[in-house]
Amino acid sequence: MSMTQLDHSKQREFSMTSANFQKIKVLAYRLTGIHLSELKENMIYGRLARRLRALNLDDFNQYCDIIDTDHCAEHAEFINSITTNLTAFFRENHHFDFLRQQLLPQLIEKNKVSKKIRIWSAGCSTGEEPYSIAMVVATFPALKSWDVKILATDLDTNVVAKGSAGVYAHERGEPVPKEYQRFLQIDKSGESLKIKDEVRQLISFKPLNLLHEWPLSGLFDFIFCRNVVIYFDLPTQKKLFDRYANQLTETGHLFIGHSENLHKISDRFNSLGRTIYQRIK
Ligand SMILES: C[S@@+](CC[C@H](N)C(=O)[O-])C[C@H]1O[C@@H](n2cnc3c(N)ncnc32)[C@H](O)[C@@H]1O
Repeated sequence: MSMTQLDHSKQREFSMTSANFQKIKVLAYRLTGIHLSELKENMIYGRLARRLRALNLDDFNQYCDIIDTDHCAEHAEFINSITTNLTAFFRENHHFDFLRQQLLPQLIEKNKVSKKIRIWSAGCSTGEEPYSIAMVVATFPALKSWDVKILATDLDTNVVAKGSAGVYAHERGEPVPKEYQRFLQIDKSGESLKIKDEVRQLISFKPLNLLHEWPLSGLFDFIFCRNVVIYFDLPTQKKLFDRYANQLTETGHLFIGHSENLHKISDRFNSLGRTIYQRIK
C-alpha cells in the first residue's frame, strides 16, 4: 500500500482501496460515459461516502458488492452522485445573444410555413439552460402563436426533477439579464423564485442517457450540449456528435461548452466561432 493510501485510510471515515476506485471508474464509464481520472478519486470518495452513510455500510467493499449487480436500484443513486451538475442561467451569455439577434430571426423566416421550432437542451442539469433559451424565445411576439417546443434531458434524475419544478433560490436569478427578469416570479419571502408559466410551458423535462437509444421523433433546429462531453473520452464524443448531426435539420445549429471543440472529432459541422456550429453534412 502506498503512503498516500495509508494517509487516506487514517483521515477517511470509510476505507476505499484502489481496487474499489477501479471498479467505480469502470462502472461510471459503462453507465454514463463519464471518464474518471485518478485525480477525481477524492471528489468521488466525498460524493459516494454519502451513499455509504445512507445505506449504513462499513466500507467501499460493501458498496462495490452492491453496485456490482446488473440493473440494481442503487445504480440511479450512483449515477446521480457522480455527475457534476454545475450550471447557471445565461451561462456563456453570447450563445443567448446569438439566439436573439441571429438564429431565432432566421428560423422565423425559414420555418414560416410550418410555424414550428424544435430545440433540445441535452445534459440540461437543473434547468437553467433550457429556461434561458425559453426566456429568449418568449421575447419574440411572432412566436406566441407558433409551435415551439424545447426538450430538456439529463441522465441524473434528481436534476431533471429540480428543473421540472422550476423553483430556485433567489440569488440564482442574479445572472438573468434585466430584459428577462420579468419571467421570474419572486416568492413573497424573497427567498426563492419561480419561472413563470409562459416560459415553463415551452419545455418538457425528461430523463435520458445520451449513450442509450434516443426515443426522439423528428429533427431539431438547434441543440445545446454544453459542458457535457468534457467528461467523455474521444471515441464517445465522436459517436455523440455524429448522432447530433443526424438529429439536426440539414442546416441545424449546435452549441457546445467554452472548453469544448469539434476539431478532429467531427467533420459534419462548420464552426461559426465562439463554440457555435452549423451542420454541413
Ligand atoms: C456540468 S452540467 C452542464 C449543464 C448545462 N448544459 C450547462 O452548460 O450549464 C453536465 C450535465 O451533463 C449530464 N450528463 C453527464 N453524462 C450524461 C449522459 N451520459 N447522458 C445525459 N446527461 C449526462 C450531467 O448529469 C450534468 O447534469
